[in-house]
Amino acid sequence: MEAATQPREKTMKVKVKIWRYDSQTGERALKEYEIEAPEWVTLLDILDLIKDQQDGSLAYRKSCRMMICGSCGMRMDGAAVLACKTRMYDIVQAGHVPVISAMGNLPIVKDLVVDMDPFWEKFKAMKPWLQPGYEEPPEGKEYRVSQERMNVIHKEALCINCGCCVSECNAMESSPEFLGPQALAKGMRFVGDARDGATVERLEDYSTEHGIWECTRCYFCNERCPKGVDPRDAIAKLGAEAVNEGIDRDMGAKHAKWFIKSTETTGWLRETELVPKTQGVISAISQMKFAMGLAVKGKVPPPFPPHVAENVDEARGLHKLVQQQGRQGYEGIVQGERSLARLDHHLREDGEVPPSEGSVGGMGSLTSADITPGEEPTAGKAD
Ligand code: SF4
Ligand code: SF4
Ligand code: FES
Repeated sequence: MEAATQPREKTMKVKVKIWRYDSQTGERALKEYEIEAPEWVTLLDILDLIKDQQDGSLAYRKSCRMMICGSCGMRMDGAAVLACKTRMYDIVQAGHVPVISAMGNLPIVKDLVVDMDPFWEKFKAMKPWLQPGYEEPPEGKEYRVSQERMNVIHKEALCINCGCCVSECNAMESSPEFLGPQALAKGMRFVGDARDGATVERLEDYSTEHGIWECTRCYFCNERCPKGVDPRDAIAKLGAEAVNEGIDRDMGAKHAKWFIKSTETTGWLRETELVPKTQGVISAISQMKFAMGLAVKGKVPPPFPPHVAENVDEARGLHKLVQQQGRQGYEGIVQGERSLARLDHHLREDGEVPPSEGSVGGMGSLTSADITPGEEPTAGKAD
Protein backbone atom coordinates (compact mmCIF):
# COMPACT_ATOMS: atom_id res chain seq x y z
CA MET A 1 0.00 0.00 0.00
CA GLU A 2 1.25 3.49 -0.94
CA ALA A 3 2.13 5.72 2.04
CA ALA A 4 0.15 9.01 2.22
CA THR A 5 2.41 11.90 1.18
CA GLN A 6 2.53 15.01 3.37
CA PRO A 7 2.62 18.35 1.52
CA ARG A 8 6.13 19.79 1.93
CA GLU A 9 6.39 22.96 4.00
CA LYS A 10 7.46 25.95 1.91
CA THR A 11 10.74 27.42 3.06
CA MET A 12 12.74 30.57 2.34
CA LYS A 13 16.28 31.83 2.93
CA VAL A 14 16.31 34.42 5.71
CA LYS A 15 19.23 36.80 6.26
CA VAL A 16 19.64 38.91 9.39
CA LYS A 17 22.45 40.99 10.83
CA ILE A 18 22.80 40.89 14.61
CA TRP A 19 24.76 43.23 16.85
CA ARG A 20 26.72 40.91 19.11
CA TYR A 21 28.02 42.41 22.36
CA ASP A 22 29.62 41.15 25.51
CA SER A 23 29.72 43.56 28.45
CA GLN A 24 32.43 41.43 30.12
CA THR A 25 34.94 41.85 27.29
CA GLY A 26 33.49 44.98 25.63
CA GLU A 27 33.63 43.19 22.26
CA ARG A 28 31.07 44.42 19.77
CA ALA A 29 30.49 43.17 16.22
CA LEU A 30 27.76 43.17 13.56
CA LYS A 31 27.45 39.60 12.27
CA GLU A 32 25.38 38.35 9.35
CA TYR A 33 23.51 35.03 9.40
CA GLU A 34 21.61 33.18 6.68
CA ILE A 35 19.29 30.30 7.43
CA GLU A 36 16.65 28.19 5.67
CA ALA A 37 13.33 28.56 7.47
CA PRO A 38 9.60 27.92 6.93
CA GLU A 39 7.69 30.83 5.43
CA TRP A 40 5.65 31.33 8.60
CA VAL A 41 8.61 32.08 10.88
CA THR A 42 8.86 35.01 13.22
CA LEU A 43 12.03 36.83 14.18
CA LEU A 44 12.13 34.77 17.37
CA ASP A 45 12.00 31.54 15.35
CA ILE A 46 14.95 32.77 13.28
CA LEU A 47 16.99 33.46 16.44
CA ASP A 48 16.10 29.97 17.72
CA LEU A 49 17.24 28.39 14.44
CA ILE A 50 20.50 30.36 14.43
CA LYS A 51 21.19 29.40 18.04
CA ASP A 52 20.30 25.77 17.37
CA GLN A 53 22.12 25.30 14.07
CA GLN A 54 24.86 27.94 13.76
CA ASP A 55 25.90 29.72 16.94
CA GLY A 56 24.93 28.46 20.38
CA SER A 57 26.49 31.50 22.05
CA LEU A 58 23.82 33.92 20.75
CA ALA A 59 22.00 35.43 23.75
CA TYR A 60 18.39 36.69 23.78
CA ARG A 61 15.32 36.34 26.01
CA LYS A 62 12.11 34.48 25.29
CA SER A 63 9.43 32.53 27.07
CA CYS A 64 5.80 32.39 25.91
CA ARG A 65 6.38 32.82 22.14
CA MET A 66 2.90 34.36 21.88
CA MET A 67 3.11 38.03 22.89
CA ILE A 68 2.13 37.48 26.51
CA CYS A 69 5.23 37.34 28.70
CA GLY A 70 7.01 40.45 27.38
CA SER A 71 10.44 38.75 27.36
CA CYS A 72 11.47 39.12 23.73
CA GLY A 73 11.68 42.90 23.27
CA MET A 74 14.53 43.93 20.97
CA ARG A 75 15.19 46.31 18.11
CA MET A 76 14.79 45.62 14.42
CA ASP A 77 16.30 48.31 12.20
CA GLY A 78 16.44 50.63 15.19
CA ALA A 79 12.79 50.28 16.28
CA ALA A 80 11.65 48.19 19.24
CA VAL A 81 9.61 45.09 18.45
CA LEU A 82 8.49 41.88 20.10
CA ALA A 83 10.48 39.19 18.27
CA CYS A 84 7.65 36.65 18.60
CA LYS A 85 5.20 39.08 16.97
CA THR A 86 7.39 39.98 14.00
CA ARG A 87 6.78 37.85 10.90
CA MET A 88 9.73 37.57 8.51
CA TYR A 89 7.93 36.67 5.25
CA ASP A 90 7.32 40.20 3.90
CA ILE A 91 10.80 41.31 4.93
CA VAL A 92 12.38 38.44 3.01
CA GLN A 93 10.16 39.05 -0.02
CA ALA A 94 11.28 42.71 -0.05
CA GLY A 95 14.91 41.53 -0.18
CA HIS A 96 15.67 43.37 3.05
CA VAL A 97 18.29 42.23 5.56
CA PRO A 98 17.19 43.63 8.93
CA VAL A 99 19.63 44.67 11.64
CA ILE A 100 18.74 43.25 15.06
CA SER A 101 20.05 44.85 18.24
CA ALA A 102 19.29 45.10 21.94
CA MET A 103 16.63 47.51 23.26
CA GLY A 104 17.67 51.08 23.98
CA ASN A 105 17.79 52.97 27.30
CA LEU A 106 18.75 49.86 29.28
CA PRO A 107 22.30 48.54 29.82
CA ILE A 108 23.21 45.63 27.52
CA VAL A 109 24.40 42.48 29.27
CA LYS A 110 25.05 40.30 26.22
CA ASP A 111 23.94 40.46 22.57
CA LEU A 112 20.17 41.08 22.73
CA VAL A 113 19.79 40.75 26.51
CA VAL A 114 19.42 43.96 28.53
CA ASP A 115 19.58 44.50 32.27
CA MET A 116 15.95 45.05 33.31
CA ASP A 117 16.75 46.11 36.90
CA PRO A 118 16.34 49.87 36.23
CA PHE A 119 13.01 49.07 34.54
CA TRP A 120 11.72 47.10 37.54
CA GLU A 121 12.93 49.74 40.01
CA LYS A 122 10.73 52.33 38.33
CA PHE A 123 7.88 49.85 38.11
CA LYS A 124 8.11 49.29 41.89
CA ALA A 125 8.28 53.04 42.53
CA MET A 126 4.73 53.33 41.18
CA LYS A 127 3.44 51.15 44.07
CA PRO A 128 1.72 48.87 41.55
CA TRP A 129 -0.82 47.37 43.88
CA LEU A 130 -4.30 48.40 44.96
CA GLN A 131 -4.65 50.51 48.08
CA PRO A 132 -8.39 50.08 48.67
CA GLY A 133 -10.19 53.19 49.87
CA TYR A 134 -13.40 51.54 51.01
CA GLU A 135 -14.74 49.47 53.86
CA GLU A 136 -15.11 45.71 53.52
CA PRO A 137 -18.35 44.91 51.64
CA PRO A 138 -21.26 43.76 53.80
CA GLU A 139 -22.03 40.09 54.53
CA GLY A 140 -18.87 38.70 53.00
CA LYS A 141 -19.86 39.73 49.51
CA GLU A 142 -17.53 41.48 47.12
CA TYR A 143 -17.70 44.84 45.42
CA ARG A 144 -18.24 44.90 41.72
CA VAL A 145 -16.79 47.62 39.53
CA SER A 146 -18.95 48.81 36.67
CA GLN A 147 -17.76 48.00 33.17
CA GLU A 148 -17.83 51.71 32.42
CA ARG A 149 -15.25 52.36 35.13
CA MET A 150 -13.09 49.42 34.14
CA ASN A 151 -13.02 50.82 30.59
CA VAL A 152 -11.10 53.79 32.00
CA ILE A 153 -8.03 51.60 32.53
CA HIS A 154 -8.65 49.01 29.85
CA LYS A 155 -5.65 49.99 27.72
CA GLU A 156 -3.26 50.46 30.63
CA ALA A 157 -4.11 47.01 31.99
CA LEU A 158 -2.94 45.42 28.73
CA CYS A 159 0.75 46.15 29.46
CA ILE A 160 3.02 43.08 29.45
CA ASN A 161 6.11 44.93 30.76
CA CYS A 162 8.12 44.25 27.63
CA GLY A 163 10.06 47.53 27.76
CA CYS A 164 9.61 48.41 24.06
CA CYS A 165 8.28 51.86 25.02
CA VAL A 166 11.19 52.48 27.38
CA SER A 167 13.59 51.50 24.60
CA GLU A 168 12.20 54.28 22.38
CA CYS A 169 11.72 57.02 24.97
CA ASN A 170 13.48 60.25 24.02
CA ALA A 171 13.05 61.77 27.47
CA MET A 172 14.77 58.77 29.11
CA GLU A 173 17.66 59.10 26.70
CA SER A 174 18.45 62.57 28.01
CA SER A 175 17.20 61.99 31.56
CA PRO A 176 17.65 58.36 32.68
CA GLU A 177 15.91 59.17 35.99
CA PHE A 178 12.61 59.88 34.20
CA LEU A 179 10.02 57.35 35.40
CA GLY A 180 9.25 56.59 31.77
CA PRO A 181 6.26 55.42 29.75
CA GLN A 182 5.82 51.92 31.15
CA ALA A 183 5.94 52.96 34.80
CA LEU A 184 3.61 55.91 34.25
CA ALA A 185 1.15 53.82 32.26
CA LYS A 186 1.15 51.45 35.23
CA GLY A 187 0.54 54.46 37.49
CA MET A 188 -2.53 55.41 35.46
CA ARG A 189 -3.75 51.84 35.72
CA PHE A 190 -4.06 52.39 39.50
CA VAL A 191 -5.02 56.08 39.52
CA GLY A 192 -7.92 55.17 37.24
CA ASP A 193 -9.00 52.14 39.26
CA ALA A 194 -12.27 52.85 41.06
CA ARG A 195 -11.19 50.60 43.95
CA ASP A 196 -7.96 52.46 44.71
CA GLY A 197 -8.03 54.93 47.57
CA ALA A 198 -4.62 56.52 47.11
CA THR A 199 -5.33 58.60 44.00
CA VAL A 200 -4.11 61.93 45.34
CA GLU A 201 -0.99 60.45 47.01
CA ARG A 202 -0.13 58.70 43.77
CA LEU A 203 -0.60 61.86 41.70
CA GLU A 204 1.66 63.73 44.16
CA ASP A 205 4.32 61.01 43.85
CA TYR A 206 4.14 60.86 40.09
CA SER A 207 4.35 64.67 39.75
CA THR A 208 7.84 65.03 41.19
CA GLU A 209 10.93 66.11 39.24
CA HIS A 210 11.28 63.05 37.00
CA GLY A 211 7.61 62.22 36.73
CA ILE A 212 4.62 63.06 34.55
CA TRP A 213 5.86 66.39 33.27
CA GLU A 214 9.27 65.25 32.08
CA CYS A 215 7.74 63.51 29.06
CA THR A 216 8.59 65.37 25.83
CA ARG A 217 5.45 64.15 24.04
CA CYS A 218 7.35 62.53 21.18
CA TYR A 219 4.73 59.74 20.98
CA PHE A 220 7.32 57.08 20.12
CA CYS A 221 6.03 54.96 23.01
CA ASN A 222 2.52 54.97 21.53
CA GLU A 223 3.91 54.09 18.13
CA ARG A 224 6.05 51.21 19.38
CA CYS A 225 3.93 49.57 22.08
CA PRO A 226 3.04 46.11 20.72
CA LYS A 227 -0.06 45.82 22.93
CA GLY A 228 -1.81 49.13 22.19
CA VAL A 229 -1.35 50.50 25.70
CA ASP A 230 -0.59 54.00 24.33
CA PRO A 231 1.55 55.07 27.29
CA ARG A 232 1.72 58.71 26.19
CA ASP A 233 -2.07 58.89 26.45
CA ALA A 234 -1.82 57.45 29.96
CA ILE A 235 0.71 60.15 30.89
CA ALA A 236 -1.57 62.85 29.48
CA LYS A 237 -4.41 61.47 31.60
CA LEU A 238 -2.22 61.52 34.71
CA GLY A 239 -1.28 65.15 33.99
CA ALA A 240 -4.91 66.16 33.58
CA GLU A 241 -5.88 64.33 36.77
CA ALA A 242 -3.03 65.99 38.68
CA VAL A 243 -4.08 69.48 37.55
CA ASN A 244 -7.68 68.60 38.37
CA GLU A 245 -6.58 67.76 41.91
CA GLY A 246 -4.70 71.07 42.18
CA ILE A 247 -1.28 69.40 41.96
CA ASP A 248 0.36 71.95 39.69
CA ARG A 249 3.68 72.91 41.28
CA ASP A 250 5.69 71.56 38.38
CA MET A 251 6.52 73.93 35.52
CA GLY A 252 5.02 71.42 33.11
CA ALA A 253 1.66 71.64 34.87
CA LYS A 254 1.81 75.44 34.91
CA HIS A 255 2.74 75.41 31.22
CA ALA A 256 -0.27 73.23 30.38
CA LYS A 257 -2.60 75.44 32.41
CA TRP A 258 -1.35 78.58 30.69
CA PHE A 259 -1.80 76.95 27.31
CA ILE A 260 -5.48 76.45 28.05
CA LYS A 261 -6.01 79.90 29.54
CA SER A 262 -4.19 81.63 26.72
CA THR A 263 -6.04 79.87 23.93
CA GLU A 264 -9.38 80.32 25.67
CA THR A 265 -8.98 84.06 26.14
CA THR A 266 -7.27 85.10 22.90
CA GLY A 267 -7.23 82.05 20.62
CA TRP A 268 -3.40 82.15 20.62
CA LEU A 269 -0.61 80.85 22.75
CA ARG A 270 0.74 84.10 24.20
CA GLU A 271 4.38 83.06 24.39
CA THR A 272 5.60 86.35 25.87
CA GLU A 273 3.61 85.64 29.00
CA LEU A 274 4.45 81.95 29.01
CA VAL A 275 7.75 82.40 30.87
CA PRO A 276 6.41 84.39 33.87
CA LYS A 277 3.31 82.19 34.08
CA THR A 278 5.37 78.99 33.96
CA GLN A 279 8.66 79.84 35.63
CA GLY A 280 7.57 82.71 37.88
CA VAL A 281 8.26 86.43 37.81
CA ILE A 282 11.79 86.28 39.28
CA SER A 283 12.96 83.83 36.65
CA ALA A 284 11.27 85.93 33.97
CA ILE A 285 13.12 89.06 35.13
CA SER A 286 16.44 87.21 34.89
CA GLN A 287 15.63 86.43 31.25
CA MET A 288 14.52 89.97 30.41
CA LYS A 289 17.68 90.81 28.43
CA PHE A 290 17.23 87.74 26.26
CA ALA A 291 13.54 88.58 25.75
CA MET A 292 14.36 92.17 24.76
CA GLY A 293 16.84 90.86 22.18
CA LEU A 294 14.12 88.66 20.69
CA ALA A 295 11.64 91.57 20.70
CA VAL A 296 14.10 93.88 18.90
CA LYS A 297 14.53 91.28 16.16
CA GLY A 298 10.75 90.82 15.89
CA LYS A 299 10.90 87.24 17.19
CA VAL A 300 8.30 87.79 19.93
CA PRO A 301 5.22 90.01 19.83
CA PRO A 302 4.81 92.75 22.48
CA PRO A 303 2.69 91.48 25.40
CA PHE A 304 0.31 94.46 25.33
CA PRO A 305 -2.22 94.82 23.96
CA PRO A 306 -2.71 91.04 23.65
CA HIS A 307 -3.35 89.92 20.11
CA VAL A 308 -6.78 88.34 19.84
CA ALA A 309 -7.36 85.87 17.03
CA GLU A 310 -10.04 86.75 14.50
CA ASN A 311 -11.88 83.47 15.14
CA VAL A 312 -11.37 83.42 18.89
CA ASP A 313 -15.01 82.39 19.37
CA GLU A 314 -14.15 78.96 17.96
CA ALA A 315 -11.49 78.44 20.64
CA ARG A 316 -13.88 79.70 23.31
CA GLY A 317 -16.63 77.43 21.98
CA LEU A 318 -14.32 74.44 22.22
CA HIS A 319 -13.43 75.34 25.78
CA LYS A 320 -17.12 75.71 26.63
CA LEU A 321 -17.87 72.36 24.99
CA VAL A 322 -15.31 70.57 27.15
CA GLN A 323 -16.61 72.32 30.29
CA GLN A 324 -20.25 71.54 29.56
CA GLN A 325 -19.53 67.90 28.78
CA GLY A 326 -17.98 67.66 32.22
CA ARG A 327 -14.67 66.50 30.79
CA GLN A 328 -12.56 67.24 33.82
CA GLY A 329 -9.28 65.46 34.42
CA TYR A 330 -8.63 62.48 32.20
CA GLU A 331 -11.97 62.91 30.42
CA GLY A 332 -10.62 66.09 28.82
CA ILE A 333 -7.81 64.18 27.12
CA VAL A 334 -8.70 63.49 23.53
CA GLN A 335 -5.96 61.57 21.80
CA GLY A 336 -5.89 58.67 19.43
CA GLU A 337 -8.60 57.35 17.20
CA ARG A 338 -10.42 55.49 19.98
CA SER A 339 -10.79 58.61 22.07
CA LEU A 340 -11.76 60.71 19.06
CA ALA A 341 -14.50 58.26 18.19
CA ARG A 342 -16.02 58.82 21.66
CA LEU A 343 -16.07 62.61 21.53
CA ASP A 344 -19.17 64.32 20.27
CA HIS A 345 -17.92 67.44 18.47
CA HIS A 346 -21.24 68.87 17.51
CA LEU A 347 -23.33 71.50 19.17
CA ARG A 348 -27.05 70.83 18.97
CA GLU A 349 -29.23 73.14 16.91
CA ASP A 350 -30.28 74.97 20.07
CA GLY A 351 -26.59 75.73 20.74
CA GLU A 352 -26.35 73.38 23.71
CA VAL A 353 -23.81 70.62 24.12
CA PRO A 354 -25.12 67.05 23.89
CA PRO A 355 -24.46 64.86 26.94
CA SER A 356 -21.21 62.94 26.65
CA GLU A 357 -21.39 59.20 26.11
CA GLY A 358 -19.29 57.12 28.39
CA SER A 359 -18.36 60.01 30.67
CA VAL A 360 -17.44 58.82 34.12
CA GLY A 361 -16.72 62.17 35.74
CA GLY A 362 -13.76 62.92 37.97
CA MET A 363 -11.72 60.09 39.39
CA GLY A 364 -10.67 61.56 42.68
CA SER A 365 -13.27 59.83 44.78
CA LEU A 366 -15.12 56.59 44.78
CA THR A 367 -18.89 56.74 44.40
CA SER A 368 -21.53 54.10 44.89
CA ALA A 369 -22.06 54.18 41.14
CA ASP A 370 -18.46 53.04 40.63
CA ILE A 371 -18.53 49.98 42.84
CA THR A 372 -21.50 48.15 44.22
CA PRO A 373 -21.79 45.08 46.44
CA GLY A 374 -22.16 42.03 44.21
CA GLU A 375 -24.56 39.16 44.76
CA GLU A 376 -22.08 36.36 44.25
CA PRO A 377 -18.33 36.22 44.60
CA THR A 378 -16.48 36.16 41.28
CA ALA A 379 -12.86 35.49 40.52
CA GLY A 380 -10.66 38.47 39.79
CA LYS A 381 -7.35 39.96 40.63
CA ALA A 382 -5.53 43.22 40.30
CA ASP A 383 -2.28 43.17 38.46
S1 SF4 B 1 5.88 60.43 24.55
FE1 SF4 B 1 6.99 60.81 26.48
S2 SF4 B 1 7.06 58.85 27.54
FE2 SF4 B 1 6.52 58.44 25.39
S3 SF4 B 1 8.47 57.99 24.39
FE3 SF4 B 1 8.09 60.19 24.11
S4 SF4 B 1 9.11 61.21 25.86
FE4 SF4 B 1 8.95 59.01 26.35
S1 SF4 C 1 3.38 49.98 27.69
FE1 SF4 C 1 3.48 48.65 25.86
S2 SF4 C 1 5.61 48.82 25.18
FE2 SF4 C 1 5.54 49.59 27.27
S3 SF4 C 1 6.07 47.87 28.55
FE3 SF4 C 1 3.83 47.91 28.41
S4 SF4 C 1 3.31 46.59 26.68
FE4 SF4 C 1 5.50 47.02 26.53
S1 FES D 1 8.37 35.36 23.97
FE1 FES D 1 6.81 36.10 25.32
S2 FES D 1 6.27 38.02 24.46
FE2 FES D 1 7.65 37.15 22.99
